[in-house]
Amino acid sequence: MDTDRAFRGRRVVLGVSGGIAAYKAVELCRRMVDAGAHVAPVLTEDATRFVGALTFSALASEPAQTSLFNVDASSGGSPIPHTRLGQSADVIVIAPATARLIGKYAAGISDDLLTATLLATRAPVVIAPAMHTEMWEHPAVQENLVTLRRRGVHIVDPESGRLAGGDVGEGRLAAPERIMDAVADILTRSGDLAGVRLLVSAGGTREAIDPVRFIGNRSSGKMGHAVAAQAAGRGASVTLVTTAPDTAPAGVDIVSVVSAQSMHDEIVGRFDATDVVVMAAAVADFRPKVVAGDKLKKAAGAPEIVLEPTPDILAELGAAKRGQVLVGFAAETVDIVAHAREKLTRKNADLLVANDVSAPDAGFEVDTNRAILLDSSGASEETPLLTKAALADVILDRVAALLGRAPTNPDQEIP
Ligand code: PMT
Repeated sequence: MDTDRAFRGRRVVLGVSGGIAAYKAVELCRRMVDAGAHVAPVLTEDATRFVGALTFSALASEPAQTSLFNVDASSGGSPIPHTRLGQSADVIVIAPATARLIGKYAAGISDDLLTATLLATRAPVVIAPAMHTEMWEHPAVQENLVTLRRRGVHIVDPESGRLAGGDVGEGRLAAPERIMDAVADILTRSGDLAGVRLLVSAGGTREAIDPVRFIGNRSSGKMGHAVAAQAAGRGASVTLVTTAPDTAPAGVDIVSVVSAQSMHDEIVGRFDATDVVVMAAAVADFRPKVVAGDKLKKAAGAPEIVLEPTPDILAELGAAKRGQVLVGFAAETVDIVAHAREKLTRKNADLLVANDVSAPDAGFEVDTNRAILLDSSGASEETPLLTKAALADVILDRVAALLGRAPTNPDQEIP
């Protein structure tokens, strides 16, 4: 990847929190400036105990800032520096991110300039954690990272190696090249879906048997939510029709549904005003023909439940599409490519993402997935095992290409 091209002319807020690895952020700052970025450093008060703000001011594109309340040259004269920083950033990079910073960000606490800036932005955020192994492995930290990932925050995982105090283990800040590559990747993609109206479905539908029982499936919504989060980070205007609204990412319009019929109605009703539909939901193919009004009683014996087909949403959209890009998924256990290709053709989709859902590390519920992408030209591409966020980006790269969108041109004037 051409890192310089990705950074040239882009505005980076470099957030530094208070850990021993703060000194390494100086090198990161220098590299980003050398790559042509406009770098605005923001240090927490604790970060200044490890490295001076003056060091960053000397190397960056504008003076380092440390306070929400300094209305002077360092804040560009702005009485509300967090909104100036957050709104004008192309990307926010936090390196190092301490356990405390991660916890505050996950909880939405904004009690200093850096955390306030994080809440005052729609730009993609990359965090590079660094801390002792015990802290890194603590469930509180890991759960906060799950929350942030779900919201579309990019995490550059730490490495193993020497830590402060002579300890050795996982928790060492990622090498500057890895952080630079991750940020360059995000900058290259960011904005390539600006103005695109994208509708994503997610989660497993529930088809009622009686007021307390339903026919369902194992879909958690994670795959569809990852697509929604990544698409929003790339500038799309995203509507997420989901059966799992409680775990939906921020920054997207959420429509909560339960059954195949309600998902159908919400999606079909929005189709004319949509450019791209990604059907990641596991929609039930059948539902009980009759829903009992009261709870079925065990004493009455095992009921015979007669099923009828649900509406096939993707097939209906495929028959009605007028220029929209349609992406379907296929959850398969055998003859994956053959079954998925049949669905691609029958449902008139432009791209089909086939999953082997019998693998323990792919498909339902887990945070990773592996897929074969099939398109209408007959081509196929197999991905390695990826996080669902990374697979979402691979799918969205294909969507961007189908829309004729090139990666954002970063050749802008440096302000
Ligand atoms: O939610 P997770 O736990 O993260 O799991 C992710 C996933 C395994 C659910 C996801 O990656 C996936 O494979 N989703 C598609 C599941 C599915 O319903 O596959 P299918 O082969 O039955 O359907 C093919 C396509 O038609 C899908 O895009 C589906 O959304 C769509 N469909 C199916 C039935 C129906 N009545 N209407 C539809 O639109």
